[in-house]
Amino acid sequence: MNNKPIGIFDSGIGGLTVTHEIIRTLPHENLIYLGDTARVPYGSRDKDIITQFSLELTRFLLKEDPKAIVVACNTISATCLEAIQAISPVPVIGVVEPTIKEAISTTKTSHIGVIGTRATIASKIYEEKIRSLHHDIQITTKACPLFVPLAEEGWFDHAASKLIADEYLKELRETTIGTLILGCTHYPLLKNIIQEAVGDDIKLIDSARPTAEALKQLLKDNNLLRTEGEPEYKFFVTDSPTISERTARVFFHGAFPGRLEKVTLA
Ligand code: DGL
Repeated sequence: MNNKPIGIFDSGIGGLTVTHEIIRTLPHENLIYLGDTARVPYGSRDKDIITQFSLELTRFLLKEDPKAIVVACNTISATCLEAIQAISPVPVIGVVEPTIKEAISTTKTSHIGVIGTRATIASKIYEEKIRSLHHDIQITTKACPLFVPLAEEGWFDHAASKLIADEYLKELRETTIGTLILGCTHYPLLKNIIQEAVGDDIKLIDSARPTAEALKQLLKDNNLLRTEGEPEYKFFVTDSPTISERTARVFFHGAFPGRLEKVTLA
């Protein structure tokens, strides 16, 4: 049994959607979460900046001596997963590949939609990876940059969020898309309004469950599982926790298993 923690990070608190699922899937694992709330959103920034910030977050987590790292952010996974893996002595997984596998294995039509931040969509990672596994699948992508601030602000059901979702997504309604990938770990918080905007015929897939399952498999394969005992959780953010705390509680349906603590990276 391996008692070392799993490090999880995101540009903000969106990665808590993945963390929530990791807790359900691996209830004995010790976890350390880091959200860069001082600099979120990353999704409209340049690749070099996203890489620089992400390596800072990785170095912070490595000091905690984790047994594995989860990049709980599509933008970072799409932009610089390999750079993170290159500096990490422990296994690092991102969210893109597990999400794609889930989408391909469950879609009812051969047309998959992907929404994400500007950086994720511009990287074309979803198109490339889906086509490398299945070249007959048609892919339609759409950047929805305003969704991240709306989620961080806790506007899950706000009339303004509905208007924005409609504006971004109405064009997807009339397509043959059977599955829509929520290619950003913040988006599950806006799931209801996204579903309303695209209509009930489109199945939404997010990164949380597939990534938690991929992590479980990785730990099993490397003989790193912690299979008993009470887990310890630490949740770090880089800005004042006040606003994030309110939103974080929603991720966990009110029962947030810890407190957000402010840290400095350097
Ligand atoms: N949760 C991040 C993602 O999955 C949000 C990106 C951002 O910071 O813009 O892409």
